[in-house]
Amino acid sequence: KESFKGRDFIALNDFTSEEILHMIDVAARLKSESKAGIPHHILQGKTLGMIFTKSSTRTRVSFEVGIYQLGGYGLFLSDRDIQIGRGEPIQDTARVLSRMVDGIMIRTFSHQEVVDLAKYCDKPVINGLTDYLHPTQILADMLTIKEHKEKIKGLKLVYIGDGNNVANSLLLGGTKVGMDVVIAAPQGYKPVPEIMALAAQNAEASGGSAAVFEDPLTAAEGADILYTDVWASMGQEEEAAVRRKAFAGYQINDTLLKAAKPDAIVLHCLPAHRGEEITEEILEGPQSVVFDEAENRLHAHKAIMSLIM
Ligand code: CP
Ligand code: NVA
Repeated sequence: KESFKGRDFIALNDFTSEEILHMIDVAARLKSESKAGIPHHILQGKTLGMIFTKSSTRTRVSFEVGIYQLGGYGLFLSDRDIQIGRGEPIQDTARVLSRMVDGIMIRTFSHQEVVDLAKYCDKPVINGLTDYLHPTQILADMLTIKEHKEKIKGLKLVYIGDGNNVANSLLLGGTKVGMDVVIAAPQGYKPVPEIMALAAQNAEASGGSAAVFEDPLTAAEGADILYTDVWASMGQEEEAAVRRKAFAGYQINDTLLKAAKPDAIVLHCLPAHRGEEITEEILEGPQSVVFDEAENRLHAHKAIMSLIM
């Protein structure tokens, strides 16, 4: 689709519902071609610069393997090695990389830094996670949901825990495609009003909904999908003890799973802290699809790259 070419992938709200569903379809097609051994060198000879100022297993490996499977090449650029780590401004890095690579994926702390990078870079920029959003994750989640539920629209997705980057992107992406997104979070950790306002707007257009609860058990009632993420995200390590107290009770466990639909699936973006936001039993149990979800990062990212690069 020509409408994707050259665009950045920074927030799911930059795309229409049809465009998000198209990306999921492309991801599914690339996945089945991959499994059948059909080569798809859509990005032959293209290069992706991958800037990381935070750790990563899934995002790094899926983008690097993904660009390779598309016939291109990925450069892993850690802030420990490139000049960003020594204070070179993002707008200079953007203009330099622009002249050498065909696209940039960045994982960093400040969302504004990604926006600035995109402003100064004439090649597509992909947001591989900021403190604010994690949109590539949610595209993979939707592919996983579609595979297990054969639809997306009208499903109730309940997220338990911190109103963080993952929760924000679930709210935006889920409401774009007509899901009922429910967040259960304690006082002080609820999603910010700006995200709730955008989600409400999306929901009005798509027929979905967005809601925030305090009580996880009430929130989980009748869920098709239960989702959680760590209580302390990257960069919040020093708050871990305080957060452990605040989030006690915000755990996907047997009691919570029983409140959901009998055929509910459990998602977690990983890495997980067993015994905190999710029990070992549920993470390893029959309703958990977390490793399908992790694999789907690869297929979703290939779809994003092949469409925008
Ligand atoms: N879910 C996710 O983004 O994992 P990584 O931090 O390993 O990339
Ligand atoms: N919320 C987590 C997600 C990790 C993939 C973090 O930002 O650390």
